[in-house]
Amino acid sequence: MNNTVLEFKNVWKTYTMGYEMINALAGLNLALKEGSFTAVMGPSGSGKSTFLHVAGILDIPSRGIIKINGKETKKLSAKEQARLRRDEIGFIFQRFNLMSQLTVLENVILPMIKEDSRKAKKILDSLGLNGKYNKLPGQLSGGEQQRVAIARALINDPSIILADEPTGELDTKNADSIMQVLQDLNRKEGVSIVMVTHNPASAEFADEILHMSDGNFLNGSK
Ligand SMILES: Nc1ncnc2c1ncn2[C@@H]1O[C@H](COP(=O)(O)OP(=O)(O)OP(=O)(O)O)[C@@H](O)[C@H]1O
Ligand SMILES: [Mg+2]
Repeated sequence: MNNTVLEFKNVWKTYTMGYEMINALAGLNLALKEGSFTAVMGPSGSGKSTFLHVAGILDIPSRGIIKINGKETKKLSAKEQARLRRDEIGFIFQRFNLMSQLTVLENVILPMIKEDSRKAKKILDSLGLNGKYNKLPGQLSGGEQQRVAIARALINDPSIILADEPTGELDTKNADSIMQVLQDLNRKEGVSIVMVTHNPASAEFADEILHMSDGNFLNGSK
């Protein structure tokens, strides 16, 4: 049976800038099943990052209902929201967002409640980063840095990975290899993935492509 990992019901995000109101999200509906791999494409400013931020409880919607693994985020306390974010969601960003003064291993361990460097090393090894544990991010290639960011996103065994243009800074070869890593995670480990991308070749790795325009999905699944 496939449960719904991420559900949006009539979700709005409105920004007020002086007298102007911008609907970054304009009544989004969505239901993503466990084990799905979804790419989100659309023009700049169409609301893709806003969508990921509210999906990952990094930001709150102005209106509407968001459920993560059946839990309605609005009904949780701040502490419960933080726990849900930590336990269920892994984030990957375009610019890797690693701590430059921490080693590879330290970056990966950072989100853990209880430090477990053996687990961190195992994940790093599985991503081809054995031997790089004690390097600083600045000593790695872009592709390697993104692998470290993926390891960090995976460290608490999330059920959902939210990725905002994960191949945006990479050349074609590194982009393909990062997409291969994500596809393997999805197919072999069953991790659900939602990935924003401008790159059609990256989007091809997903099972479904949603197109966003003016804060809504043009072909939105309901
Ligand atoms: N903090 C904010 N305050 C005001 N407006 C915002 C804020 N964040 C986003 N917006 C506006 O909301 C809309 C959607 O922005 P968003 O960053 O989600 O777009 P995007 O699809 O991710 O674009 P890109 O492809 O350039 O990353 C844009 O019009 C943007 O200007
Ligand atoms: Mg964006």
